[in-house]
Amino acid sequence: MDFKRNILITGGAGFIGSHVVRLFVNKYPDYHIICLDKLTYAGNLANLKDIEDAPNYTFVKSDICDYETIQAVMLQHNIDGIIHLAAESHVDRSIKDPFTFARTNVMGTLSLLQAAKLYWESLPERYDGKLFYHISTDEVYGALELSHPEGIEPPFTTTASSGEHHLAYGTDFFYETTKYNPHSPYSASKASSDHFVRAFHDTYGMPTIVTNCSNNYGPYQFPEKLIPLFINNIRQRKPLPVYGKGENVRDWLYVVDHARAIDTIFHNGKPAETYNIGGFNEWKNIDLIKVMIKTVDRLLGNPEGYSDELITYVTDRAGHDLRYAIDSTKLKNELGWEPSLQFEEGIEKTVSWYLDNQAWLDNITSGEYERYYDDMYKNR
Ligand code: NAD
Ligand code: DAU
Repeated sequence: MDFKRNILITGGAGFIGSHVVRLFVNKYPDYHIICLDKLTYAGNLANLKDIEDAPNYTFVKSDICDYETIQAVMLQHNIDGIIHLAAESHVDRSIKDPFTFARTNVMGTLSLLQAAKLYWESLPERYDGKLFYHISTDEVYGALELSHPEGIEPPFTTTASSGEHHLAYGTDFFYETTKYNPHSPYSASKASSDHFVRAFHDTYGMPTIVTNCSNNYGPYQFPEKLIPLFINNIRQRKPLPVYGKGENVRDWLYVVDHARAIDTIFHNGKPAETYNIGGFNEWKNIDLIKVMIKTVDRLLGNPEGYSDELITYVTDRAGHDLRYAIDSTKLKNELGWEPSLQFEEGIEKTVSWYLDNQAWLDNITSGEYERYYDDMYKNR
């Protein structure tokens, strides 16, 4: 069958990737979606069960560092667009094992870029109608301060450059123009990969786009990250390890809204541009944890306050970034994207999903993961 477009999505068996693959497979039956994933501990084909038999979907198990395989996939499927999500993504793991992060996030991205370059430059139309879209993180910008106008207690209402009001824990934000200042091995490796992507545009003329997104939450997130880990621990009545004082601030976006943004940008974004993606939705960790506890307890029929005692303050993460806050006004003004879900609705849907999908959780929190998790917390 001849497809209108042939799009390679890397890391499609992971958390965000699976939502992007699902959206593209369902929304664009005339596109061939080739999902390429190494299936590391974080990759899980169960995340894609509902679309695995779709006629416009193909799965390839491969490492992005395997340059020959990537070249073969480009040629075999006549790839004209790449949405690159494959990465090592967990900050705590990067602190323990930075090499794996440099290998996948830096060398893997370079391997994809070089394979795309060679293939696209071999075609008569070269880069016409092609796009290398790299998914990155707000963590490359470093950390923001907690600050507030004099006499006003945070969170305070502020006005974004779009004119909208929202709550914030500081007066500064990450903009597309903010200088890179990564602190963790994870964010350093993502920053490096962003630079390589831009270098391929500037040096070879490859059409590239980079987007930097804030913290995602929602179904299918690996339960090492704050939200699914804590929902799972509350349900199992295990301690909730709050790093430091729980004062760090993150800006949370429902994963389906991130996938919608990726769709909009893939189709309408300008090559060579960077877009920030965020929810204007800042939460102090401890406040978010209290909302999660309340929601899980209510949905499980526990009395209010039942799981509060699980909160356990533990040694802080090394180099723990204090605050992330994205200004995504450019994306709203230029491409018309904005989040579709309010946080209250998003967290309710998310908690319900994990409670309704306990088999999914149990399947990945046993065996190897359990050993890794115990080891990580024993050695903190
Ligand atoms: P994830 O860890 O859930 O999934 C990563 C996927 O990449 C997995 O399926 C894994 O098997 C695959 N992968 C890892 N190494 C690979 C390799 N060498 N070759 C091929 N596949 C490999 O990650 P996620 O949270 O879905 O993040 C996806 C992307 O979005 C990452 O690039 C991450 O930096 C970025 N991002 C994540 C967030 C977030 O909050 N989760 C926010 C902003 C940006
Ligand atoms: O900002 C985007 C980034 O968000 C992505 O690029 C990363 O891939 C993603 O993992 C996420 O990074 P964080 O480090 O912010 O997410 P994490 O879920 O690991 O932690 C969220 C906050 O919760 C952070 O301040 C650390 C804290 N935390 C986390 C865990 C796992 C705890 O207090 N206890 C925990 O057990």
